[in-house]
Amino acid sequence: MPVITTIDDLKRIYRRRVPKMFYDYTESGSYTEQTFRDNTTDFGQLRLRQKVAVDMSGRSTAATMIGQPVTMPVALAPVGLTGMQSADGEIRAARAAEKFGVPFTLSTMSICSIEDVAQNTSRPFWFQLYVMKDEDFVDRIIDRAKAANCSALVLTLDLQIQGQRHKDLKNGLSAPPKLTLPVILDLATKWAWGLDMLGTKRRSFGNIVGHAKGVGDTSSLMSWTAEQFDQQLDWTKISRIRDRWGGKFILKGILDVEDARRAADFGADAIIVSNHGGRQLDGALSAIRMLPRIVDAVGDRVEVHMDSGIRTGQDVLKALAMGAKGTYIGRSFIYGLGAMGQAGVTKALEIIHKELDTTMALCGERDVLALRRENLLIPRDFSGNWA
Ligand SMILES: Cc1cc2nc3c(=O)[nH]c(=O)nc-3n(C[C@H](O)[C@H](O)[C@H](O)COP(=O)(O)O)c2cc1C
Repeated sequence: MPVITTIDDLKRIYRRRVPKMFYDYTESGSYTEQTFRDNTTDFGQLRLRQKVAVDMSGRSTAATMIGQPVTMPVALAPVGLTGMQSADGEIRAARAAEKFGVPFTLSTMSICSIEDVAQNTSRPFWFQLYVMKDEDFVDRIIDRAKAANCSALVLTLDLQIQGQRHKDLKNGLSAPPKLTLPVILDLATKWAWGLDMLGTKRRSFGNIVGHAKGVGDTSSLMSWTAEQFDQQLDWTKISRIRDRWGGKFILKGILDVEDARRAADFGADAIIVSNHGGRQLDGALSAIRMLPRIVDAVGDRVEVHMDSGIRTGQDVLKALAMGAKGTYIGRSFIYGLGAMGQAGVTKALEIIHKELDTTMALCGERDVLALRRENLLIPRDFSGNWA
């Protein structure tokens, strides 16, 4: 067993174990992947301010996200097809999150259904909604999330049309994978993944098959989803969804100060500053670059969270010091899941937690809640000089 010390170590193991189609699905941004790359490299532009000779004992990373206590302010982001990275992947990831004491967010496009995850976990999780044209389907999935006792609805606003990810088209991405010759050849070297998958019945979109009209099997599914995202989604519709849900409500995919103001006026419980991990608008600024401006504009009125590009505890610290009250990891936990199942997600959380804790100490801070911009060395033009 190799010694695993970083999220990158998990990614290397993940790459060896999981079919290329699903690795590529994770490891892609849209179009030229400029925003995907910027999300991580821009974290590298921020530096940390070292402080010495301060009492660093008795540190705490405990915080709350939308009022919910968390071991550290790092939630698992909604990731479609998680159950293709590892059999029953959503259940495995949700269990790791609940043991660690951080929120798990289930995607609309998950393999395990809302009910599956609820039955196999003991604490409420969050549910992420994509708004479809079929209002009846949307109403029913909201009701299902309520019935499953989900404690927050995360409404994703930045994917009513898909940014193209070239590799998915070239690989013929599908769930379950179609057994073409290249796929069979690839699977021959990924036999442990295949055996694991043979052991579960959950191999298609569990929230959709059998729940959406006209989608009885997987062959009609890909075309159904592609056509179903509601391109007319606007604030009136968002309002309707919030009223039907009636609980904690998080708006995901905000990257613009005006949109953030609108979301704060609307009264969301939190917003997630995010560019969908660089998978949507290629050419958009990285989330960490946009974060301070959005915090300055609305941070006193709405809880500001962020994701996109977090691969280390140092990145988490930087986001919190910039003013985020919570962060999310997408790929970082998927690497762990694909590498080692539930234990791999736990490992990813442990790595990030330890990095956060040690870095906090070296910055002379004992409490994650006390992090602030003075902990950072921020290039003068970091927010950019974009007209
Ligand atoms: C493979 C993959 C699938 C994703 N699926 C969804 C999804 O179904 N719903 C959603 O709101 N966001 C989805 N996202 C975006 C994540 O929730 C999150 O915003 C992003 O992963 C953060 O960037 P990071 O991967 O650099 O941490 C997905 C991201 C990835 C990498």
